[in-house]
Amino acid sequence: MVYITRRERFTAAHRLFDPKLSDAQNTEIFGGCANPNWHGHNYEMFVTVKGEVSSEHGWVMNLKTLSDILKEKVIGKMDHKNLNMDVDFLKGVMTSTENLAIAIWNQIEGEIAKHGAQLHSIKIRETENNYVEYFGGK
Ligand code: NI
Repeated sequence: MVYITRRERFTAAHRLFDPKLSDAQNTEIFGGCANPNWHGHNYEMFVTVKGEVSSEHGWVMNLKTLSDILKEKVIGKMDHKNLNMDVDFLKGVMTSTENLAIAIWNQIEGEIAKHGAQLHSIKIRETENNYVEYFGGK
């Protein structure tokens, strides 16, 4: 079993908030990510897939294919967008980095399987000091 990783970057706006709470209460819970007039992050994402190395091609999966899947299903929909408002697969989702990783997993898992590899993990860095890793499941 070999693991290969593709890095992608996207820039996006978002806001973490509970609509039932006041702006002050949201700021108390979510800090700067609750700013009522939005804010942005330069996200960095690492998508790792795993599989057997093909004796024919010498690869687990064509990285160009992986890149194309990520562009079509994820980056093209999220880059320079408002994650709360513009992204079809994030409707009604609290746009925490944890939830982004889960939603992105659900977007691409089936597509990667079609190309003979298995999705292993999604790592998303929201800031220099914080990142999330998701390996599927609960
Ligand atoms: Ni934020």
